[in-house]
Amino acid sequence: MRRRIIAGNWKMFNNISESQNLVSKLVSGLNNQNLIREVIICPPFTSLSEISNLLKGTKIELGAQNMHFEEKGAFTGEISNDMLKSVGCKYVILGHSERRTIFGESDELINKKIKKALYSDLTPIFCIGESLVQRENGTTKEVIERQVLEGIKDLNEEDVNKIIIAYEPIWAIGTGKTASPQQAQEVHKFIRSILKDTFSEATSENIPILYGGSVKPNNAEDLLAKEDIDGALVGGACLEAESFISIIKA
Ligand code: 13P
Repeated sequence: MRRRIIAGNWKMFNNISESQNLVSKLVSGLNNQNLIREVIICPPFTSLSEISNLLKGTKIELGAQNMHFEEKGAFTGEISNDMLKSVGCKYVILGHSERRTIFGESDELINKKIKKALYSDLTPIFCIGESLVQRENGTTKEVIERQVLEGIKDLNEEDVNKIIIAYEPIWAIGTGKTASPQQAQEVHKFIRSILKDTFSEATSENIPILYGGSVKPNNAEDLLAKEDIDGALVGGACLEAESFISIIKA
């Protein structure tokens, strides 16, 4: 059976005391229960070290929201794989649409970051998704196929199997307008067909594909019930312990 994962992307929210507060509520709310889903939180860089300590002995895993592809060097403002690993990160979100659209990250750059993460034992949560214009133009599949294939370019099958994919239609992010379970399922199934054609059926069946874009406690259950939706990448609703916990338990 494929892994089931709920990940929270905190984006640029929460200073240290707000982070501590949210994590302690999450830890006590989940109370180390045996969950059917893995839980990952991705706070801002400044909170990673502190949160890593707070998560010791819990089942919640830690991820970052971005990473540079070089090992080290004169790259002002950037963060390396080694820095993330040294504070206890196991995951890193790469290719988020906010990085692509606001900060101009290309498929080629994202591919370099994915390779670096894999070669340093960090699991990429590789995000893809079409804009509203692309959906309305009928080019969703074309865009998704390009993003997937460029993002995993030159990776062998073993490495591809270590990735988590997150389908996040840009028009659904932070808009309160979620993709319907059927719309999301259709794209997830399409992503699996790309993986099957490029690698194998086994690989396409093994890679977890999360949905992201206005996932809330009231729509999580229907989305997560779909065959090819293995979890969620949650933005806004992960900033409140109560709503994140109810999505985890949905
Ligand atoms: P929202 O859940 O706020 O729409 O954000 C989704 C997202 O971008 C997660 O990475």
